[in-house]
Amino acid sequence: MADSTPLTIALSKGRILEQTLPLLSAAGLTPAEDVQKTRKLMVGGDFHGRPVRFLIIRAADVCTYVEQGAADLGVAGRDSLLEYRPHVYEPLDLKIGRCRLCVCGPKDLVDAGAPARGSRIRVATKYDHLATEYFLSQGVQAEIIHLYGSMELAPLVGMAERIVDLVETGGTLRANGLIEETTLCDISSRLIANPASFATRREQIQPIIEGLRQAVEEKD
Ligand code: PRP
Repeated sequence: MADSTPLTIALSKGRILEQTLPLLSAAGLTPAEDVQKTRKLMVGGDFHGRPVRFLIIRAADVCTYVEQGAADLGVAGRDSLLEYRPHVYEPLDLKIGRCRLCVCGPKDLVDAGAPARGSRIRVATKYDHLATEYFLSQGVQAEIIHLYGSMELAPLVGMAERIVDLVETGGTLRANGLIEETTLCDISSRLIANPASFATRREQIQPIIEGLRQAVEEKD
């Protein structure tokens, strides 16, 4: 029997949403109301005459909704994919939300050189796994201090010697007297798909992927 549930697409709230909406629109995906203004977390919509629905959730939760099959597709940052390693497909780089994941610190500490092998440092981040892996690879014992945002504050109040965070313009670092020490990887937003949906709802999913692929190419 055909699945009558509308195809469900999880969108990341915040900065990324602003850049996602023009891509959706160019691909023919139209939310029924302004997803930036509504307080609703689930909004109906249309894709060339077929109903779809959008979930408006935190970036870090998009991976969970898609992995669990609560959403068929999602827009997730490569940072979340690397940190949480969800079991999802990643059919398309949307080339939005471009930034980099960096180790940063106060200028005087960074200028004094990278932490020595065998030394211990405190690292404020929301990327616990990626930060742990990186410092392990450097032979540095990192005590991870998990934060949910505004990591740049932690060195200013003496809570950490380094942060691992996203840098886009570098404005937040500069405003807080921090500089980059190392870039760990480049980041952009990816279209992700639940593997079971990808197999069983391919006929609905493929035209959306193709629409978005074309929208990305036209924009680039
Ligand atoms: C992100 C990131 C940095 C900032 C970098 O935070 O965590 O703090 O943007 O951007 P910039 O290099 O252009 O200054 P965001 O504003 O998304 O909020 P958050 O701290 O709550 O994650």
